[in-house]
Amino acid sequence: MLRPFNRAAPHQKRDEARVISNSGREPAAPILPSSANQTAISSENGRVTDPIFKRADDSSDEAFYAAPRFVTHIDAGAIAAVTQLYREYLPEGGAILDLMASWVSHLPSEITYSSVTGLGMNAAELAANPRLTTQIVQNLNRDFILPLETASVDGACICVSVDYLTCPVQVLREVGRVLKNSAPLVITFSNRCFPTKVIAPWLSLDDAGRVELVKGFLEAAGNFASITTLNRSPQRGDPLYAVIGHAAERSTSST
Ligand SMILES: C[S@@+](CC[C@H](N)C(=O)[O-])C[C@H]1O[C@@H](n2cnc3c(N)ncnc32)[C@H](O)[C@@H]1O
Repeated sequence: MLRPFNRAAPHQKRDEARVISNSGREPAAPILPSSANQTAISSENGRVTDPIFKRADDSSDEAFYAAPRFVTHIDAGAIAAVTQLYREYLPEGGAILDLMASWVSHLPSEITYSSVTGLGMNAAELAANPRLTTQIVQNLNRDFILPLETASVDGACICVSVDYLTCPVQVLREVGRVLKNSAPLVITFSNRCFPTKVIAPWLSLDDAGRVELVKGFLEAAGNFASITTLNRSPQRGDPLYAVIGHAAERSTSST
């Protein structure tokens, strides 16, 4: 059971359960279902769901995220690894998109950006995030179209959240659309999650398999290039993995 949520210092326990690794039982590399790339998506009660990515709890995300969770979702060492990746990949002075954002920002405090747009499920969490210049409350599992101009963003990030997307390929394709040519998307994750809310494949894979799965999402999106995977796990504590892609170059005739 998940515990009630209170504002927590970084050293305090997170909400999420640790995902049991199935390492040694199955090959690490998953197979991304071919249906993940389909544009036809079933729509039940207004919700979009790729049938492959069902969740144990498919009730509304609005209800699940209605109460703010002022907690951190990974430990301090893993957060520091995320911040270092942002330092390396997200361009100083750029317009940044923090997708699936909360009250906490992992952007390096010493770096200034022209804007930071945060999109998440809880308005109170976004309002408390000190780095956000724009806040968007949107359920990406209902509506994966980002309310942003094509080629308007210099760098994007998704931290410990990609596993909650029921149409990950379609969302990432949208991120590719709004990124400028060659602009980076940094996706990070650990081994904690709300098990009932993650897509089914996430629970059946080990850490290496999840890295391959997310890489497969970006490849299937079709508008990313130079996709790399990194293990930035600190020596102790929560592991930290990254999948990084760069928006594929568009021809000048297309936007
Ligand atoms: C584990 S938290 C991570 C928050 C933040 N990225 C961080 O690193 O602290 C998961 C986040 O995903 C967001 N989220 C979950 N489901 C979502 C959905 N369907 N649409 C948009 N955001 C969602 C929630 O608002 C929440 O902030």
